Amino acid sequence: MRYITFALAKGRLAKKTLSYLEQIGITCEEMKDPDTRKLIFTNEDLKLRFFLAKAGDVPTYVEYGAADIGVVGLDTILEEERDNLYEVLDLGFGKCRMCVCGPASAKEILSKNEIIRVASKYPNIATNYFRNKKNQTVEIVKLNGSVELAPIVNLSDVIVDIVETGTTLKENGLEVLEEICPLSCRMVVNKVSFKMEQERILKIVRDLKALLYES
Ligand code: PRP
Repeated sequence: MRYITFALAKGRLAKKTLSYLEQIGITCEEMKDPDTRKLIFTNEDLKLRFFLAKAGDVPTYVEYGAADIGVVGLDTILEEERDNLYEVLDLGFGKCRMCVCGPASAKEILSKNEIIRVASKYPNIATNYFRNKKNQTVEIVKLNGSVELAPIVNLSDVIVDIVETGTTLKENGLEVLEEICPLSCRMVVNKVSFKMEQERILKIVRDLKALLYES
């Protein structure tokens, strides 16, 4: 039997995913050691391997087949635009929204067809939204975090970013101006892996689905 390899997006999503996997009988004891410096963990009995990666790298590992299965937010999947993978399951947690945000005063420029400047960690999502859905020409400024700063210091008119509780916006005098799409944690599978290991992969998907939606 060959190994099935999971790439999990580091942080909260990985923790939650591992706890759900444990509930369907997929454990990885090695991974529980908080002091370990290992990067890849194995369950020899089930012939499974796991590694943690930066969210943005998860779709890359899956696209190239270095991981068979990836678990990562839909925001990352949409932004990375990777081929060669199937999205097989909405895990239902990590729920948030991708939105256009800014000061209330920016509402007006969004309704006119003016060229505006948009700051975002998600240049592809922002470009697609303004070009395809709104037919509006925009200049995208790529940032790597704390994107809410951009309209405050006049780097951009608006931002495209994740809104979860809305606290960051509120505390910085900004608001949601338009909603782009809802987001949550997804499981993706390399297309070739899916063909080769369909039975084992579908069992994992079915067991998780039953746990998440039928209990
Ligand atoms: C995310 C996102 C927002 C914030 C939204 O940032 O980019 O800034 O969380 O959450 P809220 O609606 O609950 O306030 P993250 O914490 O990932 O940090 P970053 O800004 O450095 O990317």
